[in-house]
This record gives sequence, structure tokens and C-alpha cells, in this order.
Amino acid sequence: MNPDALLEKIAAIREAWGDRLLMLGHHYQDSSVVSCCDAVGDSLELSRLAARSNAERIVFCGVRFMAETADILVRDETGRANGRSVWQPAPDAGCPMADMADGKGLEAAWQTLQAALPEVPLTPIVYVNSNAEVKAVCGKHGGSACTSGNGHHVVKHFLDLGHRILFAPDQHLCTNIMRELGYPADAVAVWHRDLPNGGLTDEQMRSARLIAWDGCCPIHASYTTGDVMAARAAHPEAELLIHPEAPSPVAALADQTGSTKNIIDAIHRADLDRAFIVGTEEHLVSRLKQLPGRKIYSLRPIQCVDMGLTTLEQILHVLETWDETCRVTVPDELVLDARACVERMLAL
Ligand code: 13P
Ligand code: SF4
Repeated sequence: MNPDALLEKIAAIREAWGDRLLMLGHHYQDSSVVSCCDAVGDSLELSRLAARSNAERIVFCGVRFMAETADILVRDETGRANGRSVWQPAPDAGCPMADMADGKGLEAAWQTLQAALPEVPLTPIVYVNSNAEVKAVCGKHGGSACTSGNGHHVVKHFLDLGHRILFAPDQHLCTNIMRELGYPADAVAVWHRDLPNGGLTDEQMRSARLIAWDGCCPIHASYTTGDVMAARAAHPEAELLIHPEAPSPVAALADQTGSTKNIIDAIHRADLDRAFIVGTEEHLVSRLKQLPGRKIYSLRPIQCVDMGLTTLEQILHVLETWDETCRVTVPDELVLDARACVERMLAL
């Protein structure tokens, strides 16, 4: 079926469901997918929309952790879904970074670090790009989720309370946050998940303000300072906007770091005829390049394979069949702790 015919069929089913259906899409989705969503946003906006929605069914065009977060947020305070459900048209679309942390490993790290300095509270903060079991461990220990859009606020909140932080899974996001909050590099220690005691000495465990799990986004972590030099040389007039999942030496060279929404807003706010080099996933950058008046360049074009898995065919398949293999249900035993973790973020 050609894309126009697919879009027409999707629109007709969409129309029939009315307010009972909410279709959400992340900024990294293909433009054809974005065109049939009710709302497109960054992880924070999409979490808020899922939390506020009364829709009976949410179809989430994105990756697994996003659909899981929506399922966590449609549950009530007792963990019941009350007939509401979340669906992911591309059920195989995961996030390699989220898969770099597991609940058991995070629990063991938390226990080890807490035992090394029992007199100072240790709070876990998990990037929303994490699996539900990781969010559940975080919630159980009084921690909060964060996104790239509110990470500074969440990290600062707990540091200001005098807590140490165990941050998972993205070592680069939290290292960038700490640098931008003015902390020296040695305030962060990296927990190597495959090494005994995370590869840290007792002294490192006791002196770090933030312990960073050693995960990363393979897409953004591939940016190098060489990419920045080359792009700046080619476009000296352009402002450089980079997603904070980029490694710290790269992100430190940016004029601004920010979530996908922050990047889009910075470009929309700027005067027409301004130029920008954008360091994030190419589905989004290619759409920004179509904005009239602005000159947009890719820092280096890179695509997230998982984000690219959702297609119009799969969306139509879900809407026509409600195929149970596309349904995302966080296991009941994880829901309440995971919900505490995400709700704490939304309340901060
Ligand atoms: P945002 O929260 O900035 O949309 O990012 C999500 C993501 O997966 C980035 O790689
Ligand atoms: Fe995960 Fe990176 Fe893809 Fe975002 S861009 S979904 S962090 S792999």
C-alpha cells in the first residue's frame, strides 16, 4: 500500500476512536510517522502527556522504555490499569542504552555504595531511558527518574539536600549535568558494571558526589571533538547545539546542550537566517533542515536504528488488529516502585 493510502486508513480509524485513543510520537520518528501522531515531543513532554491523558488506548511510536513509562503512568496509585492500555507498533524497538543497566546490577551497586559511606544518604536517579526494573529499584530506594530536559533540576535537588547520587544508565548525561552545575571533574566517579565494586576504591566511593553507571547512547557517544572541529571549520557562522548524551569533551564545545525539545525551541526562537550545527539523531535533524529561513547542518548524520523501526504499516496493523504482541504491560510486581520513581520526577 502506498504511504498516502496508509495515512488515509490510519486517519479513518483514528477518527472513529476520537478521544479514546492517543497517538504519541518521539521527535526521532520518521516524518511519515510523526504526521499521524496527535502529539510529538521529547521524553519529558511525552511522559507528561501520558500522565495527563484519559485515553483508553495509547499508541506509542518510539522505543520500549517510552511505552513502558506511559504504561507506568496510566496505572492508578494501586497499580491498576482500569481498562487503559499502551501499545507499541514496533515491539522490537528497544534502546541499547537502556539495556546497559539491569535491576539486579543497580541494586548491588546501590548496596555496595551505601555500605561504603552509610552516614550520607545515597539517592538513585535513573534516566528515563531505562527499563522498568531499573526504575523500580530506583523508586524503592527513594530515587527519581529524570530526562535530558529536567536532569539539571533533579540532580541539583538531591545534591542540595546533601545526598550522594547513583546515576544510571547514561554516564555522559550526568557528567555533562555535573560540569554545567559547576562541579569539578573529580566529583564524578564511573561505576564499571562488569568490575567488582564497580572498579572503584573505597576512597573513590566515599569522595564522589555522583557515581555514574558506565552506560551510554551508542548514537550520541559516537560524536568526537574531531566532528566538532570539522563542522565548525565548514560552518564558522553557525551555533552548535548538542544533545547532552554526547561525551563531555564534545558537549563542552557546544554553544548549548539540551533535550530534543530544547534544541527545537532554540532554533524556533532564533532570528530567521541564523545557522545551526545540530548534534543529535538524524530523523529530527532532517526535519529541522526543512524549516524555512534557517540554515541547519548535521554535526554528523547518525540515525538511531531502533527509533527508525516504526512504520506506517505497523501503526495500521496495531489499529486494525490490536495485536497483543504489540501491547506493553509492565509486570505488576514492578509497577508501584517504578511509578514512584517516575511520579517523583513529575512532582519535582
Ligand atoms: P529526549 O528526551 O531529549 O527526547 O531524548 C530521548 C532520547 O532517546 C535521546 O537519545
Ligand atoms: Fe536509545 Fe540513543 Fe536511540 Fe535514544 S538515540 S533511543 S538513547 S539508542
